[in-house]
Amino acid sequence: MERIPVGISGVGSYLPEKILTNDDLSQMVDTSNEWIVERTGIEQRRIAAKSQAASDLAIEAGIKALKNANTNPEEIDLIIHASVTPDYTFPSTACIVQHKINAKNAAAFDMNVGCSGFVYAMATGANFISSGIYKKVLVIGSEVLSKIINWEDRNTCVLFGDGAGAVVLEQCDDGFGILSYDLGSDGENGDVLIVPAGGSRNPASADSVNGKLHSIQMDGKAVFKFAVKIMGESTINALKKAGLGLEDLDFLVPHQANTRIIDSSLKRLKLSREKVCVNLNKYGNTSSASVPIALDEAVKEGKIKKGDTIVLTAFGAGLTWASIVIKWNREDGND
Ligand code: UT7
Repeated sequence: MERIPVGISGVGSYLPEKILTNDDLSQMVDTSNEWIVERTGIEQRRIAAKSQAASDLAIEAGIKALKNANTNPEEIDLIIHASVTPDYTFPSTACIVQHKINAKNAAAFDMNVGCSGFVYAMATGANFISSGIYKKVLVIGSEVLSKIINWEDRNTCVLFGDGAGAVVLEQCDDGFGILSYDLGSDGENGDVLIVPAGGSRNPASADSVNGKLHSIQMDGKAVFKFAVKIMGESTINALKKAGLGLEDLDFLVPHQANTRIIDSSLKRLKLSREKVCVNLNKYGNTSSASVPIALDEAVKEGKIKKGDTIVLTAFGAGLTWASIVIKWNREDGND
C-alpha cells in the first residue's frame, strides 16, 4: 500500500505562570539549589493553578498549534491526548479538549505511556494519516504532575513540573516528514516508576491516601540506568529504520528529565550540545509534555531548518521508550 508522507504543520506549547524555584523547595524539604542543579540540571519548574487540570493546559497548547498550522478546529479528524495526569479516569481528557475547542468532527482518545506518551501518540496519529484514513490529527502531551507529587518526598518532588505541548500532523511533501519510529516496552520493570493506588489494583481508600500511594514513587537510580542506555539506543534504531546513520542526525529533541541523562546520550550519539534542545532547567520534567514543549522552543528559536533530520526521543514509565525520525518539512528558521 502506498503511504502518504506525514509531517508537522503546527506546533505550540503552554506553561502555567507560577514558578517554583529550587530555593522555594529547600524551604519545603531537606534539599538545596546546589544539589538539584548538580544532580539534575533543574533550576525551576512551573506549577499549575489549583483550578487547572490537564485539559486546561492541553487546550492552550492545542489552540496555539492549530493557529500555527492555520487550521480550524473543525478540520481536525482526531485528537490524541497523552498524559499520566488526565482530568479523570474517564471520560478521556481528549474528549474534554474536543468539546472545548469545538473540534466537532474529531474522534478523540487518551494514551498513557508515561513520559514516552507524546512520541507514541505522534506515531499513532501519523499512521491514521499515512494510511489515508484521516487528514489532520492534533496530538497533545499535557501534564499537571504537581497534583500527583508527594511534596514531602525529596527524591521525587524536586524533579517534576507542569506544562503542555501540541502538534498538528498532516500530509507533507514527498521525502519529508516522519521517516521512521522505534517504540518499545519493558513491562517487567514497571514497578520502578509507579503511582501505586487509584486504579483497580489498589482502589482509593483511607489507607491509600494516608500511605500517599496516589503519588509518584520512583527508584531513581534504576530509571537513570535505563534512561542512559535506552535514549541513545532507540535513537540509533530509529535512524537505522530510516536507512540513516548518526552522521545524518542534525538535531535531537530528547525527553527533559535530567541533563546528566541527556549528556550521556549525546556522548553516545557523538552530538555536540548545540545540536540538542535542553530546557529542563526552566521547566523540570513535564513527562509527556516535555518533548513537544522542547520542540516548540527549538522551532521558535530557529534551531531546526527545512531539510534537517531531527529525532524526538523519550523514555518513561512502563517502562517504555519511543523515538521518531523527522525530515523537517517547514520553513522555520530559514531566514
Ligand atoms: O521521566 C522519567 C522520570 N524519572 C527520571 O528521569 C529520574 C532518573 N533518575 C535521576 O534523575 C537520578 O537518579 C536522581 C536525580 C533522581 C537522583 O540522582 P542520583 O545521583 O542518582 O542520587 P541518589 O539517588 O544516588 O542520591 C544520592 C544522595 C542520597 O543520599 P545518601 O544516601 O548518599 O546519603 C540521597 O538521599 O542524595 C540524596 N538525595 C537528595 N539530597 C538532597 C536524594 N534526593 C535529594 C534531594 N536533595 N532532593
